Parts: sequence; C-alpha cells; structure tokens
Amino acid sequence: MATLKPIDLSGLHDERLASSVRAQIAEACETNGFFQVINHGVPVELMDKLKEVGRKFFDLPKHEKLVYAGKPVLGAEGYGSRMVLTDSEPQFWREFVELHTLPLSERHYNYWPQQPAEFHETMEKYTAAVLDLAHRLLSVISENLGLKPTYLKEAMGETQQSTVFQCYPPCPEPGKTLGLPAHSDIGGITILMQEGDGLQVAAANDTWELVPNHPNAFVVNLADQIEIITNGRYKSANHRAIVNSDSTRRSYVTFYYPAKDQKIIPAPELVDAKVGPLYRELYYLEYLQALEAGRAKDKRLVQSFAINNPLVT
Ligand code: OGA
Ligand code: NI
Repeated sequence: MATLKPIDLSGLHDERLASSVRAQIAEACETNGFFQVINHGVPVELMDKLKEVGRKFFDLPKHEKLVYAGKPVLGAEGYGSRMVLTDSEPQFWREFVELHTLPLSERHYNYWPQQPAEFHETMEKYTAAVLDLAHRLLSVISENLGLKPTYLKEAMGETQQSTVFQCYPPCPEPGKTLGLPAHSDIGGITILMQEGDGLQVAAANDTWELVPNHPNAFVVNLADQIEIITNGRYKSANHRAIVNSDSTRRSYVTFYYPAKDQKIIPAPELVDAKVGPLYRELYYLEYLQALEAGRAKDKRLVQSFAINNPLVT
C-alpha cells in the first residue's frame, strides 16, 4: 500500500527526519517501486500552469491539434489520438502529446503547440524542475542501495527526458477499453501528476490497486532500466490507466531514460558473486528494438533480458 500515503520530501532537509524519509523511499522501492511525494520542491504554481496549458491545448478544435500530429511510430513525438472500443484485447482511449525535452538537441519545436501562448515557457520551466526532482530522487535511491549518490544518474549516461500529456475523455463503455493498457515503463524513472483517479498499479493476486489522486503530489515509479541496474533489487511494476463515463481525466508524465547508445549493466555492487548478474548487459537501443518487436506480449519485457534465472519473475 505504499502508494496511498504520500512521502513528505521536505523531511530530507531536516536531520531528525531525513533517515525516516529515506527509509520510506526504500520501502516503497522494495514494495512495487510506486510512490507519491509531496513538498517535492516543484512549485505548485508551475504544476497548475502545466495542467492549464495542457487542458487549453486539448480543448482546441481537432484540426488545430492535428497541426502537431506525430507519425505513428514508436518514440514518435507530437499529437495523436486513439479511441478504440472492443470486446477482445484491451485497447486505448486517449489523446496525447509527446515532446522530447532533453537533450536540448532533441527538442523538436515544430511539435510544440503554439497555443496556448504560454505553452513553451511553461514546458521549459516545468520539465527543468521535474529533472531536478528526478536527480534528487535518484540520489536518495542510489544511497539507499549503498551506492554513491550519483550512481544511478551516471549509469544511465546522458539524460534523455520527454513529457507526455495524456487526456482520457469520458468513455460511453469504460468496461470495453482502457486509457492505457497494462505496461511497465521502459526507461529509468517516471514522474507523473494526475488530475482525477484512474491510474492503477499491479497488486498481488492479479488485482489492480488504485493510485489515488493527491493534489500537488507527484506519482513516482521506477522503470525497467532501474530494475536491470539494481540487478532486480527494485522491480519495475506493471500499471495501467482506466477510463470512466462521466469525466475527462488528464495526466502529465515525464520520463527520464538513457540514450540509445548507453550501455546498461547490473551494478557490480549488487551482484551476488556466487549467483552472478540476473540480467544481461545491453545497449538501450536493443531494449527499444525488443519493444518494437513485441517481445512484451505475455511477460514483462525486462524478463527477456534476464539471464536464465528463476529469481527474475
Ligand atoms: C504512462 C502511464 C498513466 C496515466 O504514460 O506511461 O503509465 O495515468 N500513464 O496516465
Ligand atoms: Ni506508464
């Protein structure tokens, strides 16, 4: 139930509280890698502003949004929408805008909405503040594992960051679709803010646990590359977004992940000398290729990078 009670990060600056805050983060990472944080240092006005520019963009007429339409390929940027109702495979019920923000050379401003006028400036400020939060969290998580504070940041190399604005409109038959089907995030660490309930994380016995919407909180979750680098000490949890029939739900999801040519290896400090590493080395590009090839169909994608080892499930 690590997701229910947000962790108050202001305690990290207080000597009497810091060890307890670190322990709460460690416990959440060990449980399912999903937790919420408050007093996280990202100004609430900036969070509200990002929600406002997101809402204003999605409220534009379709033809104005289509100016920013992305190509339908993996990792594509720009605007897209997919609304599918079916009786068979769970599908998508969402509109989205995906934008790369780091490295700076990967900012493709042709996809950045010009409306509302404050979109660019708000994105730049917001993603810089969320980057800082990601670095602070990675540092605590590294230290919790007995690694130097910069370990996880350095293990992922040159930082890549992108933000997806997700919009899940009301759905007439919410039982016949999903906002986003079950998946684990493939990168390093994800920082999400949501408006309204709908995010669920996989819990025991094939059930789903709601990650409740706390105003001003961020949901943090560990992704597949952290599972590999921590040699499975921390797992990347499956999660999904459900939809409802009466209200639009939006979420703002910032992904932090390695460059394609970055080599990812289990931290030697976390590898048992007798057992050996539980995951094989890879370049992040291979991971993207595996995703594209659809190797995640019936198991978590990260398992296909496990070295034949019953400890990785
Ligand atoms: C994602 C994701 C959940 C949500 O974008 O990867 O899991 O609530 N989003 O939008
Ligand atoms: Ni996700």
